[in-house]
Amino acid sequence: MPKCLIVFFSQGGTTGRIAASIAQGLAAGNHVVDLHNLKEGLPPDPGAYDILGIGTPAYNFRAPFIVADYLKRLPALSGKPVFAFMLEGAYGGDAGNDVRRALAAKGGKEMGYERYHGADYFLGYLKHGYLLSPDAPKPGSIARAEQFGQEVAACCAGKTYARPEYDPSPAMIYHLERFLTNRFFIRQMYSRLLWVNRKKCNACGICVKLCPTRNIREGKGGQPRFGRDCMLCFSCEMKCPQDAIASPITWFMFWPFMVYNTTQASRDLSIEHVRVVHERGRTSVVKTEARKGN
Ligand SMILES: Cc1cc2nc3c(=O)[nH]c(=O)nc-3n(C[C@H](O)[C@H](O)[C@H](O)COP(=O)(O)O)c2cc1C
Repeated sequence: MPKCLIVFFSQGGTTGRIAASIAQGLAAGNHVVDLHNLKEGLPPDPGAYDILGIGTPAYNFRAPFIVADYLKRLPALSGKPVFAFMLEGAYGGDAGNDVRRALAAKGGKEMGYERYHGADYFLGYLKHGYLLSPDAPKPGSIARAEQFGQEVAACCAGKTYARPEYDPSPAMIYHLERFLTNRFFIRQMYSRLLWVNRKKCNACGICVKLCPTRNIREGKGGQPRFGRDCMLCFSCEMKCPQDAIASPITWFMFWPFMVYNTTQASRDLSIEHVRVVHERGRTSVVKTEARKGN
């Protein structure tokens, strides 16, 4: 039986759920599948597998750095069948393209690409009162993912693959947002500005456990100390039950982007949203506006 490795990054669980459904589809097509979330560390050597799948959420209209770094480190794929999938809260921009291009550059032979909606727990939007694509992925997407897995299995077995075009590049303003969240700024500026309120922090350690890049260590009295390897996922700040962590996401200069993005998404009939309040690590829905979405 052909062996498939699916490597993905999932902080909120939606990319993981889609990965598991794709795995079911591949298994139905007689493949043995191993799943690996990059937040658990490095995956097994893809050389031991016949097929490699990569799943990514969109982070600031690109693939998150943890995924980009993994792709960079991959050895030459020399014609190995590969596939990719991307989760987006609203507009994924180049996230899927980043993965597909990196796999192609390594010599992978693309056998499938799909995109799905995933619940968007981006702290900037939550603080602005919006949760985009709540409850996603929905059952329709889960079923589509399983079908996608079967399709990949069929293409690897010789069925003709109709390669989709790359996703359209995002609008200019999203390029600017992407630029403002580039690695240089994160290392040299934002990561130095992560801040913990020592009076509020009760050293619960949640932020340390959640950080996907292991950038947070326990400092004096068990309170967090931040390094420079932040990837701006904001999980630490979002999940802090004491609201003790602050980051540049609430800065005045970013606010117009939050307003623009959430206004665009809330006017887009293909994207569901609910109004929320985010406090003490919890997101509570205050108003539901029923939309179709998937
Ligand atoms: C830090 C951060 C940045 C995000 N940036 C984007 C984005 O640029 N475009 C988009 O459509 N969704 C964006 N999202 C939403 C995620 O891509 C989406 O919710 C995805 O389903 C999350 O995957 P996960 O649940 O597996 O972690 C962002 C989410 C976070 C946390």
